Parts: sequence; structure tokens; C-alpha cells
Amino acid sequence: MKLYKIHLVLGLVWLLIGMTLGQIMGESGDHGQLPTHAHIMLVGGVLSLAWGLLYRVLDLPARLIAGVQTLAHHLGSVCMVVALYMLFGGIGEPASVSVFIGLGGVGVMLSTLLILLLVILAKD
Ligand code: HEM
Ligand code: HEM
Repeated sequence: MKLYKIHLVLGLVWLLIGMTLGQIMGESGDHGQLPTHAHIMLVGGVLSLAWGLLYRVLDLPARLIAGVQTLAHHLGSVCMVVALYMLFGGIGEPASVSVFIGLGGVGVMLSTLLILLLVILAKD
């Protein structure tokens, strides 16, 4: 599967997972997982769709940094939202769980930096 399609498929899966959590929050009336829902929707879902569309529209090359960008974004997002879910669900030691929110965030930042490089290197 091409990288743009991996981003689009995973982005849509992220949206479905986040919407399910949103439904559970709405029905239970417990909005404690709001930050988890917000980051699943925006970091997992919306950013993945943005990356997928950028790869496609700008015809970004499938070079090594593109593979690293894709891995960093999705692994970073998983790490970040699982840790957010644990933090706001009261699971685990908050100080150790927060380290994983930070590590996931660094993965997402790295992927954004790599997209910036790919966009700069893209043909006009
Ligand atoms: C099935 C669809 C959805 C449901 C049932 C749902 C449900 C919820 C609920 C219950 C809250 C908490 C509201 C509060 O406590 O103030 C919330 C917040 C939020 N939702 Fe959703 N949501 C859905 C779709 C979306 C979508 C499509 C996005 C964005 C792409 C989104 C982004 C957000 C954000 C950013 C917040 C946090 C807002 C804030 O900081 O106050 N949600 N959602
Ligand atoms: C990359 C690393 C990121 C980290 C470490 C991070 C961390 C955080 C933290 C600590 C909060 C405050 C949560 C609270 O006080 O309850 C927050 C809120 C928020 N962030 Fe992020 N964020 C990141 C990326 C993003 C991105 C890329 C987006 C949008 C595309 C985003 C959208 C939001 C929104 C809408 C809120 C307000 C809703 C809430 O309270 O959870 N964040 N973020």
C-alpha cells in the first residue's frame, strides 16, 4: 500500500475510534476522557488525513524519510493516546504515564518536521 493511502486508511480508523469514545462520553455523561477524544480526533484522525492528502496532492517522494515520518506519526499517536487514556482513566502511576504522553508527542513532532522537509523538497 502506498504511503498516502496508509495515512488515509489509518486516519479514518482513528476517526472511528475517536467517535466511538465520543459516543461513550456522550451517553455516559462522563467527559473525563475529553483530552483523549480530542487528540484521537485531531492528532490521529485530522493530521493523518492532512498528511495523506499532502503526499497525494504534492506527489511527495516515497523516500526513507517518508517511511520514518509515517511510522513516527502513527506510533507516536498510539503512544500518546493510550497514555492519555490511562492518565485520564486513573490507570497507572501519573508521573510514568505522562512520560509516554511526552514521548508520543515527540514522535508526532518528528513526523511534522519530516513533512516540512518533504514539502520543502517537493517539486514546484
Ligand atoms: C460521533 C461523533 C462525536 C461525538 C459523539 C463527540 C463527542 C464529544 C463529547 C461528549 C465531547 C466533550 C464535550 C465537553 O465536555 O465539553 C467532545 C469534545 C471534543 N470533540 Fe468530539 N465528538 C464527536 C466528533 C468529533 C469530531 C469529528 C471532532 C474533530 C475532528 C471532535 C473533536 C472534539 C474536540 C476537539 C473536543 C474538545 C473540545 C474542548 O476542548 O472543549 N469530535 N466530543
Ligand atoms: C504533539 C504533541 C502534543 C502534546 C504533547 C499535546 C498536549 C496537550 C495537553 C497537555 C493539553 C491540555 C489537556 C488538558 O489540560 O486537559 C492539550 C490540549 C489540547 N490539544 Fe494537544 N498536544 C499535542 C498536539 C496537539 C495537536 C497536533 C493538536 C491538534 C491537531 C492538539 C489539539 C489539542 C486540543 C484541541 C486541546 C484542548 C482540548 C483538551 O483539553 O484536551 N494537540 N494538548
